[in-house]
Amino acid sequence: MEKRGVKLIFEEGKGGRAAYTLPRPAIEQRDLLGTYRRKGLNLPQVSERQITGHYQSLAELNFSPYSEMDPLGSCTMKYNPPLMESLAAQGGFLDIHPYQDESTVQGTLEVMYYLDLYLCEITGMAGFTLQPSAGAHGESTGIMIGGAYFRSKGERRTTILAPDSAHGTNPASVTNLGFDYEQVHSNDRGWVDLADLEARMTEDVAIFMLTNPNTYGLFDPHIEDIADIIHTKGGLLYYDGANLNAIMGKCRPGDLGFDIVHVNLHKTFATPHAMGGPGAGPTGVVEKLTDYLPVPVVERDGGRYRLNYDLANTIGRVKAFSGNISVLEKAYAYILMLGPEGLREVSETAVLHANYMQEKLKKRGFTFPYGDQHCMHECVMKHEHIDTLGHLLSERFKKLQATIHFPGANTYMIEPTETETKESLDDYIEAMVEVDKAIKDPGVMELLEKGNIYTPIRKVNTRKGMARPCLVEPEKED
Ligand SMILES: Cc1ncc(COP(=O)(O)O)c(C=O)c1O
Repeated sequence: MEKRGVKLIFEEGKGGRAAYTLPRPAIEQRDLLGTYRRKGLNLPQVSERQITGHYQSLAELNFSPYSEMDPLGSCTMKYNPPLMESLAAQGGFLDIHPYQDESTVQGTLEVMYYLDLYLCEITGMAGFTLQPSAGAHGESTGIMIGGAYFRSKGERRTTILAPDSAHGTNPASVTNLGFDYEQVHSNDRGWVDLADLEARMTEDVAIFMLTNPNTYGLFDPHIEDIADIIHTKGGLLYYDGANLNAIMGKCRPGDLGFDIVHVNLHKTFATPHAMGGPGAGPTGVVEKLTDYLPVPVVERDGGRYRLNYDLANTIGRVKAFSGNISVLEKAYAYILMLGPEGLREVSETAVLHANYMQEKLKKRGFTFPYGDQHCMHECVMKHEHIDTLGHLLSERFKKLQATIHFPGANTYMIEPTETETKESLDDYIEAMVEVDKAIKDPGVMELLEKGNIYTPIRKVNTRKGMARPCLVEPEKED
């Protein structure tokens, strides 16, 4: 077992073996990287079967949302249809360059134009920028827009509020941009404490940032009162749209009173989240803020599309060129494929799945601090031995663990997403029940002290592993 992995391929190599590579094209090529590349590396010579098998076996050592449910709460690690990847990889999209003349990239501009319109329709905003490349980047863009709006009105507002359940990126975006951050308490129902919000909402406050449903997986029913409190004092209400996948087609942040919204296309709209791939956090605003959006924005002029750089109060660019185009194309295709009914069904199913898990797990003895309420697309459990539970689930059952210790200590936040089957939800629940029983057995805890029980490498030598990540070796067992 320990032989699997990188070492194997070095041992199997034999002089003269080779995998197939395409012949070089007949056009003149300049090897720009050549001078930087190390020469004379002792790389194994292996056949195509061997090299494919090598990567396959490496992949099998990993978990993947393609093979297993990945209920990492707040992160929306759902299965994304590869069809979207192939659509975005078509030559007409892939083989263009941002410096090309507008007249030669009309198709891509059309996609951007309509994506903007669809996002406006879904969120109730009046205009979007598609440039931000992540949720956190969308937050920064929204805060900059809010800041520019107050500056142009001659108002000096220096504080931004968010509830204690906010995702860590909210306070980080606030302080990165030089604003003061203040936390608003949640009440015993997990919602915003209105009295605390009212007390903190002074005329120094520019923005209140909120996710709804929040990171406890709860929809705050007092959202219209919240909007009133903020607007009465002249502030702006910001929607952290990372949880939009719970309300699409059911209600729109714009109709609830939000002024600025970011949407994580890489969570809700068919691009895998995390693992370092490109994302997109388009940011939308209500009518009075459209003039502050980053430039350029795409406009239609008769039957043609063009980039407009001329917005009176624009905050400028927030990203090179037009953003992560392939993510935008995948989102556009996904919205077209599902249509309004399909998008609504995504949210309904995501919410149904989370409630199914919450109710089943409650019946099996697990504790949900807000379990007397229906949850939205994710549910939050509390467990005394949360680290061990997650660890054993992944080790023993090859189940990816959910988010631990967020939004509170000892919490386990499960977001099953709409793409799972009832069987996989049941399977996960049974694994949790079994692991919970095992934790109560002192023998298992003792064994765990020694390292992993079920993986090929029981205890990773982290010190060596950091220095030479390709050659992680098992620590000598005593
Ligand atoms: C509630 C919430 N807000 C903001 C973000 C930040 O998004 P990103 O990771 O794209 O920066 C996340 C990420 O998962 C999130 O769950």
